[in-house]
Amino acid sequence: MSEGLLVANNLSKFYQMGEVTVKALKEASFRLEEGELVVVLGPSGSGKSTLLNIIGGMDRPTGGELFYRGKSLHRAGAKELTVYRRHHIGFVFQFYNLMPNLTALENIQLSVQIASDPLSPTELLAKVGLADRADHFPSQLSGGEQQRVALARALAKNPRILLCDEPTGALDYGTSIQVLQLLKETCETYGKTVVIITHNTAIAQMAHRIFYLKDGILERIEENQTPLPPEKVTW
Ligand SMILES: Nc1ncnc2c1ncn2[C@@H]1O[C@H](COP(=O)(O)OP(=O)(O)OP(=O)(O)O)[C@@H](O)[C@H]1O
Ligand SMILES: [Mg+2]
Repeated sequence: MSEGLLVANNLSKFYQMGEVTVKALKEASFRLEEGELVVVLGPSGSGKSTLLNIIGGMDRPTGGELFYRGKSLHRAGAKELTVYRRHHIGFVFQFYNLMPNLTALENIQLSVQIASDPLSPTELLAKVGLADRADHFPSQLSGGEQQRVALARALAKNPRILLCDEPTGALDYGTSIQVLQLLKETCETYGKTVVIITHNTAIAQMAHRIFYLKDGILERIEENQTPLPPEKVTW
């Protein structure tokens, strides 16, 4: 059995709000393997973003252990976590978070400036079907196109793990499916481990595993023996 790319043991996150303790995540244990696609499902407030932010080193657990390739993240200092985020983690957010005063290509180029082993921004822009939009500003792109730029940007720094928090939350259904297909296809091409929070059950069928969260508890992990391959996306 492999060591696991990322291993979490009894991971917890509690917030003390005056007298009240908010238990955002309660003793979650799981592993992430190289190249797998995991979908996280659960109602609002169930701890999905909390889990993703801890995996991504944006937040620290208040209990439990987290190891990335055998190195402990729960004990890591701020500097080590910054290095971890910078070199190993790519994020895709619901509202894209592109720099409005930079073109599509420049947004991607900016992210690779601090990367140690980046992929070609031009190649990635072509990969997400936007080669002819390189010089467009975000305001000149549709929501789906902006998210494709954000996906290219996250991948360009060549992280091992790509974390997506409701990446299609602001898109219509048809565009969502296309972005999710592209996400899966691109990540297979580049061999990334991908974790996606989504309410879209279409992507759940493509996932290798599905994590079900409820009230901060990782209730079960479902294995998908025959994950659907991504369909070829045409724009
Ligand atoms: N900084 C914080 N301080 C206090 N409580 C917090 C904080 N961040 C999150 N929580 C609480 O932790 C719980 C889990 O929040 P989280 O954002 O992980 O949920 P979620 O599953 O991502 O929900 P959604 O689907 O609405 O995005 C919620 O009850 C939330 O109010
Ligand atoms: Mg959330």
